[in-house]
Amino acid sequence: MNIDDLREALNASPNNLPLRLLLAEALLKAGQQKEAEQEYLKALRQEDNIKSRKALARLWLKAENTSAVIIFLEESIELHPQDTSFQIMLAKAYLQEDNINDARALYEKVLLINPEMRDEELDRQFRLGSSEEQAFIDDQFMERPDTRFEDVGGMQEVKKDISLKIIQAIKHPELYEAYGKKAGGGILMYGPPGCGKTYIARATAGEIDARFINISINDILDMWIGNSEKNLHQFFELARQHKPCVIFIDEVDALGASRSQMSKSNSRTLINQFLAELDGVNSSNEGVLVLGATNMPWNLDPAFRRPGRFDRILFIPPPDEAARLEILKSQLKGKPCESIDYKKVAAKTKEFSGADLKALIDHAIEQKLEKSFSSGKIEPLQTKDLLNSLKGVKPSTKEWFEHAKNFALFSNSAGTYDPILEYIKINHGRK
Ligand SMILES: Nc1ncnc2c1ncn2[C@@H]1O[C@H](COP(=O)(O)OP(=O)(O)O)[C@@H](O)[C@H]1O
Ligand SMILES: [Mg+2]
Repeated sequence: MNIDDLREALNASPNNLPLRLLLAEALLKAGQQKEAEQEYLKALRQEDNIKSRKALARLWLKAENTSAVIIFLEESIELHPQDTSFQIMLAKAYLQEDNINDARALYEKVLLINPEMRDEELDRQFRLGSSEEQAFIDDQFMERPDTRFEDVGGMQEVKKDISLKIIQAIKHPELYEAYGKKAGGGILMYGPPGCGKTYIARATAGEIDARFINISINDILDMWIGNSEKNLHQFFELARQHKPCVIFIDEVDALGASRSQMSKSNSRTLINQFLAELDGVNSSNEGVLVLGATNMPWNLDPAFRRPGRFDRILFIPPPDEAARLEILKSQLKGKPCESIDYKKVAAKTKEFSGADLKALIDHAIEQKLEKSFSSGKIEPLQTKDLLNSLKGVKPSTKEWFEHAKNFALFSNSAGTYDPILEYIKINHGRK
């Protein structure tokens, strides 16, 4: 029905509310805003209705009829508290008044109740003026590491995988293309803490002279609903602006875990945001390498593991004897030592993580320092000092395996966790 027909029908039955709303809508579509406004006002006088209220508020917001729309919206919210779109509009009206605090507080409240109400215009507003903040973030999270693969003891398998999947893809994109393979996708590392996940991620960046962005879940999570997603997006944008770049996300499993301050649906939106970033939905991830780490891969949302996302999953075991020897050497480099029998210490530190070895050395050094204070000269570290410290430092990886064993035995359908079982069989002598 066209506008004239609608008017005629309405003349015949002036109290027909749906008909009046149809006419108002048609007028709006035809660009006759003043006439539409009149009809919505009549409709509202006839009977309170949400449709007219929304349309009028929208019209007045657009006309920047700010003080009128604020009063009208406050009344609308009182009458229809369940419809949060009035609150979104009120937040926008506050912004027109430059009342940013109230706008933000209101928007925050709406998102808490209903995360689906995210509004692009408001999001953009609250992100504005934060370039100083952004520069601060850049400095805080972006490194240019000088550690290389040669500084990483052992981990041959991991180096090979990262090299093939990530480094070569960056160095020879044309070869990948020739075989019809898409470069990209990430590698997820899992294993007991302190065994070099962060260390090798940093060395990966060093190896290809790339920037390194190291973020953990606490850098992303924000009390303010909607901000966590924004934070995550900004980290990925930072990586995209500084390619080649390795972005390392620690504790990825926690992205999906429910937090005390976050409801289920909120953690879902964060997961979706993360997946969108991994997929490079709105922007290309070319030159951006994603490495993830977790101590609890079984907590990971299965969607993370789809092709193009974390499609490689690597077990990072505690260092074997050869690796421990290298770690000891690299950790003692430049410290006062006297012909250390690295082989012997490495043999005696079964199940020690890299971090445990570091703790062992620190412990020995503290003892030495005490001696040096009383003798007044530098006492070089000796093999026996390290062996003595073994009494004070215990390997920390066993606990993780105790826990992991259950998952490896009972929720291991695709054989993903076979490497855990293999490690246990070889090193703990039993299943
Ligand atoms: N393979 C290794 N070679 C040299 N040092 C290592 C190695 N693995 C671990 N380390 C040392 O142990 C520390 C802890 O390792 P990290 O990478 O933080 O463990 P994770 O991230 O797996 O918890 C590192 O900072 C490093 O000093
Ligand atoms: Mg780590």
